[in-house]
Amino acid sequence: MLEYKKELLFVDGLSVCEIAGEVGTPFYLYSRKKLIENFRKFDSAFSGVKHIVCYAMKANENPYLLKILARNGCGCDIVSGGELKLAVSSGINPKRIVFAGVGKRDDEIRRAILNGILMFNIESIPELYRIDKIAKSLNKTAGISFRVNPDIDAKTHPHITTGLSHNKFGLCFEDAFAGYILGKALKNIKIIGIHTHIGSQISDSGSFVLASKKISKYIRKLKDAGIGLKYIDMGGGLGIKYKDEKIISTSDYAKAIRSHLPENHTLILEPGRFLIGNAGVMVTKILYVKKTLKKNFLVVDAGMNDLVRPAIYGAYHEIIPVIKRKGIKHNWDVVGPICESSDVFAKDRRMLPAKADDFLAVLCAGAYGYSMSSNYNQRARAAEVLVENNKWRIIRCREKL
Ligand code: LLP
Repeated sequence: MLEYKKELLFVDGLSVCEIAGEVGTPFYLYSRKKLIENFRKFDSAFSGVKHIVCYAMKANENPYLLKILARNGCGCDIVSGGELKLAVSSGINPKRIVFAGVGKRDDEIRRAILNGILMFNIESIPELYRIDKIAKSLNKTAGISFRVNPDIDAKTHPHITTGLSHNKFGLCFEDAFAGYILGKALKNIKIIGIHTHIGSQISDSGSFVLASKKISKYIRKLKDAGIGLKYIDMGGGLGIKYKDEKIISTSDYAKAIRSHLPENHTLILEPGRFLIGNAGVMVTKILYVKKTLKKNFLVVDAGMNDLVRPAIYGAYHEIIPVIKRKGIKHNWDVVGPICESSDVFAKDRRMLPAKADDFLAVLCAGAYGYSMSSNYNQRARAAEVLVENNKWRIIRCREKL
């Protein structure tokens, strides 16, 4: 989606400089084309098997983008009543919504049942009873699966690994088994599936193969106990290229996921980052070029409140100039205006010369960018802009103070 024409950066044929001039900075800039391309690439990797793609909307909850995905037949993985409301109002079919999370509240469970979502991915035995009780009070039946924690090291950042036994997520195989047996006896519970999610930004296909193997063995055990399942939800986690990581192709990912699974089920996949990560950049402006005895700083107008990933995960995001200037590359720290030492987008990054008022694009910021932004330091959240059909439009206004 990105290309330089002469020295200027373009997104899908539109000049970033021109958009920035009109919208003001910072803002997120997305490509509809890239989003749809990512969705189709992911979806078609599973074309040989019955499946539902349930986009993990926590990655990016912009309603306009959700509508685009909804129109393409995408479902959602949700983790709160807020996400439920947004998914439904954006046209996501409730029959394609799965609800995960260790701390579902009563009102959220009630809403989800009333909206007729496909299933709850249950993360504890008390939650099973809670859902049954609420479903009973509504005279309804709730479709459920248990989220199993397969104790797999997905070899990713410790903050985004979820499938290890010390993580708070899901139930170990034995406890989930007890849950399935208990659930069978509950009148307002309908057991329909199994769920697992081993982590995020995974670049090791072996972890998905192992998950596939463990889940399929477990499904056989359940079957022997008289518990048949219709849905196998393998979660999300497919990594993308931020720097020079080796990434898994969608076809190898599909192969890994399907490697051991039985064929007569409907597969559910919950990609978040893969769909929107590289379809968005954050555009920011250099406020000051500050040189000290030890360091050269580019102080920009976006902060960790706009994009928190570098501050909390030490995440790498490539940063490129919107106007390429000629000269020799130097080392720069790209920092925001927030009163925290971790408000740093890049350290000692080799970059072309830049001036105050120049724009920079922070790449691969589409996932967990805006959705994790905050008002810290009383800063208004950024605007969101979409390029579609050779035009750009604001799909969320900048917040006002
Ligand atoms: N399903 C479940 C149950 C999840 O918890 C997640 C992400 C996903 C699917 C989607 O995973 P993905 O395909 O995006 O890897 N804020 C972190 C990522 C946290 C992911 C949380 N769960 C980051 O910026 O890297």
